[in-house]
Amino acid sequence: MKNINPNDTKSWKVLKNHFSEIKNIHIKELFCNDSNRFKKLSVIFNNNILIDYSKNRITDFTINTLLMLADEMNLKNSIESMFFGSLMNKTENRFVLHTALRNFSNTPIFCNSKNIMLDVLSVLDKIKHFSSLVINKKWTGYTGKYITDIVNIGIGGSDLGPKMVINALHSYRNHLKIHFVSNVDGSNILRVLEKINPESTLFLVVSKTFTTQETLINANTAKKWMFSMFNNSKFLDQHFIAVTTDSNEATKFGINIKNVFLFWDWVGGRFSLWSSVGLSIALSIGFDNFKNLLEGAYCMDKHYLSTEFNKNIPVLLALISIWYNNFFQSETEAVLAYDYNMKYLSPFLQQMTMESNGKSVSRDLKFINWQTSPIIWGEPGTNGQHAFYQLLHQGTKLIPCDFIAAITPQHVLKNHHEHLLSHFFSQTRALAFGKSHDDFSISLKDFDVCNQKVLSVEPYKICRGNQPSNSILLHKLDPYNLGVLIALYEHKVFTQGVIFNIFSFDQWGVELGKSLAKDIFISMKDFDEINKYDSSTCGLINFYKYFDKLNI
Ligand code: F6P
Repeated sequence: MKNINPNDTKSWKVLKNHFSEIKNIHIKELFCNDSNRFKKLSVIFNNNILIDYSKNRITDFTINTLLMLADEMNLKNSIESMFFGSLMNKTENRFVLHTALRNFSNTPIFCNSKNIMLDVLSVLDKIKHFSSLVINKKWTGYTGKYITDIVNIGIGGSDLGPKMVINALHSYRNHLKIHFVSNVDGSNILRVLEKINPESTLFLVVSKTFTTQETLINANTAKKWMFSMFNNSKFLDQHFIAVTTDSNEATKFGINIKNVFLFWDWVGGRFSLWSSVGLSIALSIGFDNFKNLLEGAYCMDKHYLSTEFNKNIPVLLALISIWYNNFFQSETEAVLAYDYNMKYLSPFLQQMTMESNGKSVSRDLKFINWQTSPIIWGEPGTNGQHAFYQLLHQGTKLIPCDFIAAITPQHVLKNHHEHLLSHFFSQTRALAFGKSHDDFSISLKDFDVCNQKVLSVEPYKICRGNQPSNSILLHKLDPYNLGVLIALYEHKVFTQGVIFNIFSFDQWGVELGKSLAKDIFISMKDFDEINKYDSSTCGLINFYKYFDKLNI
């Protein structure tokens, strides 16, 4: 990948000037000026997913200049480098090949001169075999009972992806109940343990490194809980599975090597649901559906790799997001899924986006003076409408939104679904267009609260509109389309990282908190008051110690 600072490019300068021209133009005007706008600024992917990006504060010139930026930043070359095995994660000295996990092309993918497809296919086979044994009640627990509950113990990428997918595909689930334990807060595991029967529960300990403190503490608590039921350690072979890149650590924990599902250091945690990290997905919805999810992602991979940028969905969405993030200086982006089953989409995309692109040093080792990752947040509709949409409609901030929904619901309550979608469509319209044209004739000049000369409350009712959004409307939220959607966001994030000129695949910032927590844990155990940190941190720890010593 070339090191080019985006603000040194010609197109960046053009975009800066263009921003001052466009910032006062209303989306309403853009639609009035072009009756073809929707047709021009929307794409139908694979005949069943509509991506409408017409309700954005963009013109043909904006798009063309953003596309020029992508070219100047050598995006095409970076995409190919990632897919075909260049060393993209330079600060960790790792390849970035999660796309190989869903490569159905029969072409080999080389990493350090080794064809990794053989390993990928062999682990996929192992997932297929194992999930079929458990689902078909041929895998039994220590006392001979078949498995009814699966507990996925993992955090970050070892939790969020599978949790999001399993919830999103609610109607595809089989009889197995899947639970997630991620937080080191004991309430998390205790609430799960009280729901399950040790004789029929399978624990999946999912950790790329098998060293993550939270995961190991939770896994040890689960192991002790099982031990207290069975009074010996023989249960481990039937009840504990490891998903990791480090089989040694897993076996040291006590997990049988046969129960280890490997993946590799070229799979980033937040891009790992396609690997054996997705074991809980295969268990929950069956291997064929898991494979469909991978196939959907592969379909988006092909699109990303081979489609001209002016029709390339991840590229277009990434560029539009950069337009707001770096020129309008909007700070955040809302992900608004009108689908209750997608309640974990926003936390999942938070990790994918913010852990990847929350960086401030460029690929050529300079502190950056342009914005990098937007803050991602959101709630499923319609709940959000009764919480934070007021700010979207009448607040002072520019918040680009992604609206996502499926036309065919996963349930039978058509009436509910029609109402839900009517909210989706109305909100994108209300945000873009605001109140009707007539209402805009009311001037704030007529309105003087301080002098009590209140002529009307109308100004309080004005919604300015001009809040941009993308709409992603899927025919169905099935495994295949979900795969397409997730890969779309993965590639959007990658595209942005290339243009920000940062390394998207490390997360050194997270390490600082991890190492400090180890040291502070030791200080908490020390009987005496401590003074080795700043006064606030010492004050917090010493206040804790005071009550801890009193044992109340
Ligand atoms: O949050 C930091 C991180 O390293 C993530 O990138 C990763 O998904 C998570 O911790 C869990 O790591 P592991 O799978 O190694 O336990």
